[in-house]
Amino acid sequence: MTVNLSYYHVASDVPENNTEIAVVIDVLRATTTIAWALKNGADSIKVFSDLDLLKEEAFKWDSEKRLMLAERGGKKIEGFDLGNSPVSVTKEIVNGKRLFMSTTNGTKAFQKVQNAKQLFSMSLNNREAVAKRIISLKKKNILILGSGWEGSYSLEDSLAAGAIAEYLIKNEVNSVNIHNDELNAALALWQFWKGNILKCLKTATHGKRLTKIGNYEDDFKCCSQLDCLDIVPLQVERGVIRAS
Ligand code: MLT
Repeated sequence: MTVNLSYYHVASDVPENNTEIAVVIDVLRATTTIAWALKNGADSIKVFSDLDLLKEEAFKWDSEKRLMLAERGGKKIEGFDLGNSPVSVTKEIVNGKRLFMSTTNGTKAFQKVQNAKQLFSMSLNNREAVAKRIISLKKKNILILGSGWEGSYSLEDSLAAGAIAEYLIKNEVNSVNIHNDELNAALALWQFWKGNILKCLKTATHGKRLTKIGNYEDDFKCCSQLDCLDIVPLQVERGVIRAS
């Protein structure tokens, strides 16, 4: 068997097909926040692109057991419990809760591939855990999707796409077909930056945006750690992600 591996920079590039396995990446910071929330005991995360819909659904939930997270342009939105920082989703705050989450780009990327048979959320923190699970599933078609920034390319998501692709190519027992040049470029990017991930994140335009609007040093440190979490976030019903 040959495994077909493809990478798309942004949702609008994804061909209209229902792939077997999709992996959504938003290194800065949505999929890093999701990984840490689940690590710290969150029951689940439901992702939304629309804030009104988020509130409508969240308000139907037991108020003791819900948290509403919303970010636009890197900033927390007034009136929500949290923004989108992986260091804010501590055990004390998220344990046992359903998180209702909307971010500028990351949560939209999930919607594009929500019909995949298996949909994973991946950051650099849980790259190895997600890759190992994918290998164990023995499927032929794997699609990796970056979240980008408002419809355009993002360096840090492509870095992580290269990171998981390298892991799969090295550890997959089957041969891996690199399906598109976006993935060739992501692999080259990973080779270039893998020795200094933190610098790559700060070089990225979204990294610069975050640096301009606040002190996000802890977020950068957190988001740049490779393979430090064994969490495998999986969509278990439309838009709902749980540790699996
Ligand atoms: C996004 O979805 O674009 C983000 O995760 C932005 C951020 O909060 O840094």
